[in-house]
Amino acid sequence: MKQVWILDRSSEHANELLAALPSHIYDTKIWSDGDDMLAALDESLPDLVVVEQAIEKPRATAVVRAVKERDRRLPIIVTAEQTSSKGAIESMREGAYDYLPRETLPGGLEDAARRALSGDGGLIQTIGSPGPGDVEELGAIVGRTPEMVEIHKLIGQVAETGVAVLIQGEPGTGKELVARALHYNSDRRGGPFIAVNCSAVTPESLDLDLFGAVTGADAGSGASPASELGRVEMADEGTLFFDDIDAMSLETQARVLSILEEGSFERPGTRKKVRADVRVVAATSRSLVSLMKEGSFRVDLFYRLKVVSLFLPPLRDRREDIAYLAGHFMRRAAAKMRREIDGISPAAIELLQEYPWPWNVRELEQSVHGAVAFNRTGVLVPEDFEVLRVGRESWPATGGTCRDLAAAVRTDFEQRTGAGEEAIARSITAVVEEELVRAALEECDGNQVRAAKLLGISRNTLRKRMAEEDR
Ligand SMILES: Nc1ncnc2c1ncn2[C@@H]1O[C@H](COP(=O)(O)OP(=O)(O)OP(=O)(O)O)[C@@H](O)[C@H]1O
Ligand SMILES: [Mg+2]
Repeated sequence: MKQVWILDRSSEHANELLAALPSHIYDTKIWSDGDDMLAALDESLPDLVVVEQAIEKPRATAVVRAVKERDRRLPIIVTAEQTSSKGAIESMREGAYDYLPRETLPGGLEDAARRALSGDGGLIQTIGSPGPGDVEELGAIVGRTPEMVEIHKLIGQVAETGVAVLIQGEPGTGKELVARALHYNSDRRGGPFIAVNCSAVTPESLDLDLFGAVTGADAGSGASPASELGRVEMADEGTLFFDDIDAMSLETQARVLSILEEGSFERPGTRKKVRADVRVVAATSRSLVSLMKEGSFRVDLFYRLKVVSLFLPPLRDRREDIAYLAGHFMRRAAAKMRREIDGISPAAIELLQEYPWPWNVRELEQSVHGAVAFNRTGVLVPEDFEVLRVGRESWPATGGTCRDLAAAVRTDFEQRTGAGEEAIARSITAVVEEELVRAALEECDGNQVRAAKLLGISRNTLRKRMAEEDR
């Protein structure tokens, strides 16, 4: 029998969780007081601890830390009545094995418990002891869809490791926000966060900007050359964020590679090695794989960067987040402009959820800002949003055509192969096939003969695909 301790302030909630764990495998015990549970840990250790994020005095993150101090290998799962990016990031940073949002409970607990207890479960991370969380500086990353919760978890897991991180995603999906979260959750948080936009300047000036220059006047005069600090040195003991790294020249890429490999670089025009203690985070909205094929991105740098790679999904693929994001931006804009806005009308939310947002969260943020400025009634309505005022027929056609589908397939492919997944064809084609079947059945009011004809497949094939979908 595996001993599982559940810490939760609501016994009702704890009992629900308990019910998810088969009693012939798990011997469960419920605690309502964190200090009592921690004291009991000094007497005996269970195999798994489950803590609800909402507990107070001590807070869940403090419990995770205290448990890890007693036994670093004991796996802890944090459950969250109310999912939050801060909760997910901090729990994982303190060493939690997993973070389970309410939507995945209670069922998801059994899976997570099985994984946590299957051998090396508790060893997945050995993240060092954290200082006080610098949450004030950490811009909140709003998002409750499973994809976003995974991102919050990953940030918490890798922040303190100091490894390079590659963040991919369309423009405006929050890549810089994630880069900052990585910085403020790492032990470099006391150091600088220096963001460099590689596409904003010419490749030559980027090189100087980053690596400094030997000032010309002195260079010729025989006096020892003075040098101007580059941004790499400014980022010493901090984080260096390369935005649009795809725009970086091959020469600059070589110097960045040497920072990653040797912790030093050669200043342009000299042979002198300069030491660089920086954590590198890079972002791109283009496919580095295609750039490597063209020969404009170094393969070795790509593999160095993508040790940890993170993909931010486009906003139109996480529509459930739109209402939360819009509310978040509304409150911020209203406070800034000192306007009293009570909310967003359901009709406006519905339209916001349908609009394709080609520029993603950035575009939504600006739209909400505009709407708050424009609004006269205290509740945001569709007419307040410029993007929604134009007729639907003039909306940009993102995410609606087969060309976008091809791009999505490519991205999905790269993500999966990047994660080491194999045998991927089936799961990708299944998505397309299932969607076609669903659409055709809807169009034909469930009539299978007509749906099969519409799709140009046999009725047997249709049935087979429907059966697969049910599985
Ligand atoms: N999940 C989120 N929660 C709250 N704000 C967000 C979120 N994602 C993005 N934003 C906001 O949207 C704006 C764009 O985000 P950010 O600059 O991080 O995107 P980006 O991917 O770096 O964009 P670009 O590719 O254009 O450089 C910022 O103001 C950021 O604060
Ligand atoms: Mg950016």
